[in-house]
Amino acid sequence: METTSFLQTIGSVVVTLFQCPPDNSHAVKMRLIALLLVAGLCDLGLCRTQDPFIWLSYLRSRYRTHGALYADTTGGDCPLECECPPSYPIAMYCNGRGLRQVPTVPSRMRYVYLQNNEISRIQDNAFENATGLVWLMLHDNQLTSDQVGPRVFSKLTNLKRLYLDNNLLNHVPSNLPPSIRYLRLGGNNITTLEEDDFKGMDDLTILQLQDNNIEEVGGALKSLPSLTLLDISGNNLQKVPDLLPERLHQLYLQSNSIETVPANFLRKLSQLQFFRLANNQLTDKGIPPNTFNVTGLIELDLSYNKLERIPPVSTNLQHLYLQANQIKEFSVGSFCTVVDNRHYSNLRVLRLDGNEINTDDFPAEAPLCLRLARSIDI
Ligand SMILES: *[C@@H]1O[C@H](CO)[C@@H](O)[C@H](O)[C@H]1NC(C)=O
Ligand SMILES: *[C@@H]1O[C@H](CO)[C@@H](O)[C@H](O)[C@H]1NC(C)=O
Ligand SMILES: *[C@@H]1O[C@H](CO)[C@@H](O)[C@H](O)[C@H]1NC(C)=O
Repeated sequence: METTSFLQTIGSVVVTLFQCPPDNSHAVKMRLIALLLVAGLCDLGLCRTQDPFIWLSYLRSRYRTHGALYADTTGGDCPLECECPPSYPIAMYCNGRGLRQVPTVPSRMRYVYLQNNEISRIQDNAFENATGLVWLMLHDNQLTSDQVGPRVFSKLTNLKRLYLDNNLLNHVPSNLPPSIRYLRLGGNNITTLEEDDFKGMDDLTILQLQDNNIEEVGGALKSLPSLTLLDISGNNLQKVPDLLPERLHQLYLQSNSIETVPANFLRKLSQLQFFRLANNQLTDKGIPPNTFNVTGLIELDLSYNKLERIPPVSTNLQHLYLQANQIKEFSVGSFCTVVDNRHYSNLRVLRLDGNEINTDDFPAEAPLCLRLARSIDI
């Protein structure tokens, strides 16, 4: 949807350029530039990117060098400290300008870029006239939780993306609008998640909480029906949270202090495909039997832990990372309980380097069981 509306905008840029009177040689030149511009964009493969931000930054850098392209149009009022390209009047660029506060946001704005500034406080009314905002980028600022008003975001009922990563927040901002799909809160100083932090956020699909100080997740995430990607890597979790939403496809828990995985944990997450637990404190004892032997999993990363054995995995698994553990034996039975023409592992990549086994320990039936492997590191 976002990509479509952006393509429409590109379309309108081109249309505007082609509306110049045909007998004007300046206009002819402009058309040529427009053609080159559009052709050049597509050549670079940028037509395929889904991120309007990349598109827009690219367009803007182009437009800077051909400033005349929009010199005679205006897109509406714009705060002095920002840039609002008339060709895309619903976007406002205020990033990287040393700002300490949020400038006035005109009501027509949909995409607002405020990242890389020194904004430390936002008052409740900061976005009161900009309720149509779809994207709000506030990452890489100095925001602290006590300086962000409790209702700053509450009226932004169209907001889909909110980026607040790399600030100084101690907790998740209150009253987040339920329309948000993509929420970035990584690189803050969040220590706990409250039960109602994400209440009613039925559309939340991607949640990034990496590099905070979270010790417990509790029930804060369990009723997020659309959540498919959850990143809590680089926190202080001691165990894998057991109340997680059932639709998760990707779960990133690497670089915590996790020692145990709850029994039957993955059976509740039947859609999980990518599970990363690297750089934790996992031992064989902390992993109940058959924990990872579930049919949906495609990638499992258990590298940099303290495992002494290869845990049993499903024959459907395609990528298994076990490097830098203390594994002493190459057990084919962890991959294949039967080996014949119909029974074999789907593993494509297996890493066992940095363990206590060597190539002499590679059993004779291993090549049959792992016949699809593209790379095995021992
Ligand atoms: C919102 O609009 C009203 C009416 O135009 C204006 O008085 C007010 O200052 C605006 N608020 C902000 C935060 O810009
Ligand atoms: C993070 O929060 C804790 C307690 O909430 C506080 O003691 C600590 O100083 C904070 N760290 C930073 C870098 O702000
Ligand atoms: C995984 O589970 C299946 C069925 O639940 C079982 O048949 C298979 O032997 C198990 N695999 C391993 C490696 O233990």
